[in-house]
Amino acid sequence: MKKIFIVGNWKCNPVTLIEAKELFEAVGKGVGGLVNAEVVICPPFLYLLNLKSLNFNLKLGGQDCFYEQSGAFTGEISPSMLKDAGCEYVILGHSERRKNQQETDEVISKKIISALSAGVKPIVCIDQISQIPKKKNIIIAYEPLHCIGNGNACDPKEAEEMRILIEKETGGDIPILYGGSVNSQNAKDYTDAGFSGILIGGASLKPDEFVKIAKAVDFSG
Ligand code: PGA
Repeated sequence: MKKIFIVGNWKCNPVTLIEAKELFEAVGKGVGGLVNAEVVICPPFLYLLNLKSLNFNLKLGGQDCFYEQSGAFTGEISPSMLKDAGCEYVILGHSERRKNQQETDEVISKKIISALSAGVKPIVCIDQISQIPKKKNIIIAYEPLHCIGNGNACDPKEAEEMRILIEKETGGDIPILYGGSVNSQNAKDYTDAGFSGILIGGASLKPDEFVKIAKAVDFSG
């Protein structure tokens, strides 16, 4: 069976470590019995070490990283630091960063190279074919801009057409996830449409809903 990725992007939430631990614990307990799923939680950087020490069967990911491993770069977090903090994954090129931090494909490409060299797997978010990086050993998350955070998930048929185009472009051996208003009612539509998993924003902050999503797609691989 193919591994199914269930990636929770907490974004800039929750505001306290206590809440972060409670959320992580509820998810960790809820997905304990899953067979096939690779559940990845991407919390704010500050919580990573604490969450790692809770020892649940959850993978950790960063929501971004810098493109150098160390040096005089005030405020940055490097891929090597993420690796050391227990991250196997890092989300790169999320549309919120493209918009709010003016991240370009060029910068994202440098970050991908740097993450790979530190042994952290990039989950690269794209909204259109032209944003597909020419890299191997990555995961792509197709996240149509107009579907993020508003309850208007993409029509699974349309998403599938895009998945097929991305697959053609990347040669077929890169996992492709869908992201954008995924919930427990629609999640399986995307794995049924051939996606290798899903990237979840809002619903990843509701442990019961997140666990339902994970259970819904666990056997889709
Ligand atoms: P959403 O966010 O699930 O809240 O739409 C997805 C994302 O931004 O990755």
